[in-house]
Order: sequence, then structure tokens, then C-alpha cells
Amino acid sequence: MAESIQNNYVFSQKHLLGLYHCSADDIRYILEQAKNFREVLERPVPKVPTLRDKTIVNLFYESSTRTRLSFELAQRRMGADVVNFSASQSSTRKGESLKDTIRNISSMKIDMVVVRHESPGVPYFLTRCVDASIINGGDGAHEHPTQALLDMFTILQHHSDLYGKKIAIIGDISHSRVVRSNITGLKKLGAEVTICGPKPLMPAFVNALGAHVSYNLEETLAWCDVAMALRIQMERMGAVTDLFPSLREYHELFGIKRTHLEKYPDFIVMHPGPINRGVELESEVADSDRAVILNQVTNGLAVRMAVLYLLSGGIRV
Ligand code: NCD
Repeated sequence: MAESIQNNYVFSQKHLLGLYHCSADDIRYILEQAKNFREVLERPVPKVPTLRDKTIVNLFYESSTRTRLSFELAQRRMGADVVNFSASQSSTRKGESLKDTIRNISSMKIDMVVVRHESPGVPYFLTRCVDASIINGGDGAHEHPTQALLDMFTILQHHSDLYGKKIAIIGDISHSRVVRSNITGLKKLGAEVTICGPKPLMPAFVNALGAHVSYNLEETLAWCDVAMALRIQMERMGAVTDLFPSLREYHELFGIKRTHLEKYPDFIVMHPGPINRGVELESEVADSDRAVILNQVTNGLAVRMAVLYLLSGGIRV
């Protein structure tokens, strides 16, 4: 994996709110550190004591399987004390405000907070309420920085450099935080990005994102080195339910199929999960050896360990 950076680089961020706030070198440094943690995960005892004296709260206001488990496992593998908060079982249901919840939690001497929330900007808001380091685990359709970092890490396992690499991101662009963090991060490291999907799922400010836009899946797949499919996010469409005619039609026009793998033999297939089989990806594609989706999940653990390590200013592994 290239993209290497000096070992004496000073990572000066206190929070990870989004890749927008990170420099290209910050991103390179996180990815470099993640390589070390990827190796730790291969050891017979995949643990390090780096966060032994830290207490971390995982504050999840939105449902999550992968991201919450990945953060929690990363924290436990590094010896942290971990507390999990889920909005559905908390005093939020009794009417407590976000600010009061976080201030109360913070009074329990917390070092870091991982937060997922349906409203964009909540992680930033929390930095103004408490002294702990805040990590954005996904805020509305805004950013999901650790997902983009693990995606970049996974691409770098297949390509020596991101510079000039052609990354296609296909699907529900409008409602995706994964796409925003990925475009931001990938472009900082010199990749070319094309976003592809049905017009009603393209955001109005699409040009400001700095990616090419395509409405043609065939052309996009013929062009790319990496095809990253995104989930159709029904739960974020609110009252608007007619953005496209049917999931079957979506699959016809924008689903990646086995025939595409045969026709274009080079691209790898990624997906942040959860997959809607038969919608974004034909089942055979999701299970094929061109799909690196489960590897993304493993890499997510290493990347999150690296982020926790760097934000805690801890000792080397
Ligand atoms: C993504 C998310 O929550 O934004 N998933 C994830 O973190 N693994 C994408 C999605 O929900 O489709």
C-alpha cells in the first residue's frame, strides 16, 4: 500500500467530525496507522492496551449494526471502558434534550463520544457542549468519515495509490452520507470520482461536490476501477415515495449484475452495507470474488482503532 507518510507526522485533530475537516496528510496518516492495527487483528490475541485508561460512550440515536459493533469491538480490543447508549432505551423518550443528555453523560468523566444521529451537524454541536473528543459515526445525509476511511483503506489493498484511480459511486446519492465523505476524501487523495444513479436521486448541488455525474451504468462500469454501490435509503425519503417507479426498475437500470462482471473484468465491487440483495447488487455479485464487502467490514475495525488511537493521543502499537 503506497500513500505513505512520515512516522513523525503530527496529527493535531481533537475530533473526527468529517473528512471535510481533515487534510490529505491527516487522511494518509490515519490510513497508515490503520495498517498497523490491521496487523494487530491478525495476531493470535488481537488486542492492545492503548486505551486502557479511557472511557468511551457510543451514543446511537439511529439504528446501526455494523458501525456500532465495529466501534465497540475496536474500543474493547484497545482496552477501553465502553458504555453504549441507544436512544430507544433512554431518557430521550422521556423528553430529555440532546444537550442535557450529553452533559449528564459527560459528568461521568467520559474521554470520547461516538455519535450517530439523524440530524446533520449534531457531532459539531456536541463539541460545543462537552470537553470529550467527538467522533462522527454518521450524521443524517452529511458525513460518515470512518466509512469513507475504511473504503479508501480497502481500495488501497487492491491499488498501490489512489491518485488517478477511477471510483464510481452508484445509487441513492441524495440521501447518502457515505458518498459525501467518500467524494471529499477520495478527491483529497487525487482519485477521480463519478457518481451514477437515477436523476431524482441526484442532489441539486451535485456540481459542488466536484465529482463527474453519469446517468448511464454501462458507461460508468466500463470506465471505473472500483464500483461502490449505495443502498436505496427508503427511510430517509420521508413523505416523498415516488422518486423512482419501483425497486425492480431501479435494479434493471442501476443494479450491478453478473453479466457486468463478465463484460468488464477489472473493477472490484464495494458496498457499505446493509445490502438490499436484488436491488443494488444481484445476489451472485454480492457473493462473487470480485466483491470485497466483508473485507470492508474487517478493515473498518482497523480504521476505527487507528482513529481512536490518534484522537486519544496514545502510545504506539
Ligand atoms: C451506511 C450508513 O449508515 O450511512 N451504513 C453503514 O454505516 N454501514 C450506509 C447505509 O445505511 O446504507
